Amino acid sequence: MPSLHDTRHYHLHHPIDLMTEFTICESLGHPRSPYLPALAMERTYGAVLGDRLREKGLLRQGCRLCEIGGGYGSLMRGLVEAHGDLVERVVMVDLSRALLGRQQRALNPWIDRVRFVLGDALEVLPAISGVDLFLINEMIGDLPVWTDFHPRGLPPEAAALIERYRLAIPEDGLFHFNIGAIRLVEAVCLKNIPAFISEHASDPIIPREMPFLVKGLATGGWPREIRLTAHSEYTIRFSHLEQVARALGRKVETGSLLEFIGYTNVEKARFIFNARACATDEQALVFEFLDHVREYRWLIIS
Ligand SMILES: C[S@@+](CC[C@H](N)C(=O)[O-])C[C@H]1O[C@@H](n2cnc3c(N)ncnc32)[C@H](O)[C@@H]1O
Repeated sequence: MPSLHDTRHYHLHHPIDLMTEFTICESLGHPRSPYLPALAMERTYGAVLGDRLREKGLLRQGCRLCEIGGGYGSLMRGLVEAHGDLVERVVMVDLSRALLGRQQRALNPWIDRVRFVLGDALEVLPAISGVDLFLINEMIGDLPVWTDFHPRGLPPEAAALIERYRLAIPEDGLFHFNIGAIRLVEAVCLKNIPAFISEHASDPIIPREMPFLVKGLATGGWPREIRLTAHSEYTIRFSHLEQVARALGRKVETGSLLEFIGYTNVEKARFIFNARACATDEQALVFEFLDHVREYRWLIIS
């Protein structure tokens, strides 16, 4: 029987500890993070994301940003620390009152430029205006998912989306369908505002220079459950999101998050990833990071 997996009760009522989840944003979130020197990186994730968005002309003078599901506020803090001269206003939307409080503390130095909205992204998004760019980092895996679907027993809402956007589904066997992530992308596209999205992918892209990272990783697959403390997330079928955005007339760019953050030390990565026997703390950090980040994709809708 298909059922709708929903983390909203967890995010509304549970004391959320992101340190029990390995998030890229927190791993690279602070200038003193041990992952940064291990990866030979100097800038935090928020600062690097700002660099890339600036290069692509999406982060411009007077920019009004909206981050959805900002966790501890580390991404936005890093971005504003590095690129605050460009940012006119920030809106932080989150379902968790406790995490919105953390974001408020993280962004305190810029508080006169920041507004906080408590609510469910899927409900709030249509009402948001005066924004030039959405940032949605590692949150769409938390949105509702139809689980244990059979291709011949689709709930009507999902069947309608699959037909409207001509989404590929397996011919047989049970699978999971990221209905919440698709709905969010649909809402973003209908607003005609660019968006950066990143998440665990069920169809990850492996950097061409690092083919060894594919070892033991499912690519081109269907969403899988990731069990976490007191809740589960699901990996995202990015090709579905791309297809929805294109069908709605938007341009999409996508790739591996490891490439996006500018990690280039292929030889070191090859040695550590192939050996898997880490002789030093630094090698252990690099291995842990690579093993995790290789499943992530980024997507820019413009
Ligand atoms: C896994 S955390 C990621 C936090 C941060 N973006 C990062 O990369 O570390 C997911 C975030 O999305 C928020 N969230 C989950 N479901 C949401 C929803 N339906 N609407 C708005 N925010 C939501 C959570 O409260 C949390 O802040």
